Amino acid sequence: MKPFPVLFVCLGNICRSPLAEGIFRHITTENGRAHDYPTDSAGTGGWHIGYPPDTRSVQVAREHGIDLSDLRARRVEASDFDRFELILAMDHANLRHLQGMAPRETAATIALFGAYALGGDIEVPDPYYGGIAGFRDVYNMLFSGCSSIVAKLEAERASWSGNTSSVR
Ligand code: 4NP
Repeated sequence: MKPFPVLFVCLGNICRSPLAEGIFRHITTENGRAHDYPTDSAGTGGWHIGYPPDTRSVQVAREHGIDLSDLRARRVEASDFDRFELILAMDHANLRHLQGMAPRETAATIALFGAYALGGDIEVPDPYYGGIAGFRDVYNMLFSGCSSIVAKLEAERASWSGNTSSVR
């Protein structure tokens, strides 16, 4: 199966998108599909480049057996539109930023995470200025959404290959 890389994007790349990346990788690893769906995350802003995820994201992920400690923040770059098939923004501002910088010829699908994965015009709220409870709410949204993304991609790819089972 040709790899289908997925990029998660927020503002700082320290709270929401690294958590989405960790959750998505955890789900695909548990399904034995991590090589089919490489993943990464990035921010539209550059303030936290090189920093690890926010300690509250690391803590909430750890509560669910997911280790984010190796991740480091980076900014979205032009090559991301060539490298990733699917680029999901956490909120409308991030989405507008991505649409503004995407080359016209990009083949990547660029969408709001909530629209693609949660079935509506739903933003994943920025938890940075709140407490740990906000990070737990974000975790639950991201887990639900990432589970749907994996199920959706598996179903789409099975139908492209004319195969209705998920067996390679
Ligand atoms: P994120 O959260 O976009 O989910 O990583 C934020 C992190 C930092 C800032 C804003 C949002 N900040 O303003 O520094």
